[in-house]
Amino acid sequence: MSIDFKDRVAIVTGAGGGLGREYALELARRGAKVVVNDLGGSRDGTGHSDAALQVVEEIREAGGTAMSNGGSVTEFAQMEEMVAKAKEEWGGVHVLINNAGILRDKSFAKMTMDDWKIVVDVHLNGSANVTKAVWETMREQAYGRILMTASSTGLFGNFGQANYGAAKLGLAGFTKTLYLEGAKYNIKVNTLAPVAATRMTEDIMPEAMFKMLGPENVVPAALYLVSEDAPTNAIVGAGAGGYHSAFVTMNTPVILDQDDRTVEGFAAHWDEISKTEPMTIPNSGAEQSGAIMTAMQKKMAG
Ligand code: NAI
Repeated sequence: MSIDFKDRVAIVTGAGGGLGREYALELARRGAKVVVNDLGGSRDGTGHSDAALQVVEEIREAGGTAMSNGGSVTEFAQMEEMVAKAKEEWGGVHVLINNAGILRDKSFAKMTMDDWKIVVDVHLNGSANVTKAVWETMREQAYGRILMTASSTGLFGNFGQANYGAAKLGLAGFTKTLYLEGAKYNIKVNTLAPVAATRMTEDIMPEAMFKMLGPENVVPAALYLVSEDAPTNAIVGAGAGGYHSAFVTMNTPVILDQDDRTVEGFAAHWDEISKTEPMTIPNSGAEQSGAIMTAMQKKMAG
């Protein structure tokens, strides 16, 4: 089975280097017309360069079609303009990979609120800006594939990355509502948690590990998740040739007797309330309250 993106228009944010560049190159190789967005800043988000333009040249030299965009994902008006230009030139936008990102790592004790805000602004608000800019177009076309970039930090935590982790889990949460709202319009939304050797991780990982983590290993997961037959509402981890899914799960609700519905009663049942088996994977928030009602009925039935 070969997967192509012929006649598809794709936007990849932060595609001037690292993972985004790999996604853009492979999308173009597979026939997509690609908007390569990148403001070309340094790892902490300061400065500008023509990184996006260089990737566009690479794509064109290889016979592909691409345009560059040097706007910042933090500026909604710039993202609207980017989408308008892609539509004017190529007639639509079918794929969006929200990938742009920066770091301001510090323990929470040392983190300023400016460090917090700028990281949340680029990752979470930035992804919302671009998604909002394409959303109506995707609804009208009855076709859209959107990928959010989360991180192991967002899903599981990492010392020194409170700002980044909050933004990244926010993106997984964004996916979980957007997939419901997009379903009727054939818009599929997924979350990727990559691990790759890029400038973002060059001084964080041991050298031997860094060598195994070429960003090209993440491309298969990213492109599958924005392809025609993509799943929706998936959270996928990818790095160094290893791939997995991650889930937000819940255990079976424990229904306390009326007399036990006290702080002490809750404490007395904590082991049961916090046990990790069996687990279910709700597909929407309503399924959480549904599970409580089901457990309640079961208890009442004896
Ligand atoms: P990178 O630093 O090479 O790429 C990020 C790109 O985003 C840069 O080219 C940068 O100029 C661009 N960018 C930053 N702010 C922007 C803005 N406001 N508007 C437009 N572009 C902007 O880093 P890498 O590793 O390729 O990261 C890509 C994504 O993957 C990020 O969202 C990152 O948080 C995420 N990620 C990466 C991991 C890794 O192991 N490399 C692990 C987990 C998540």
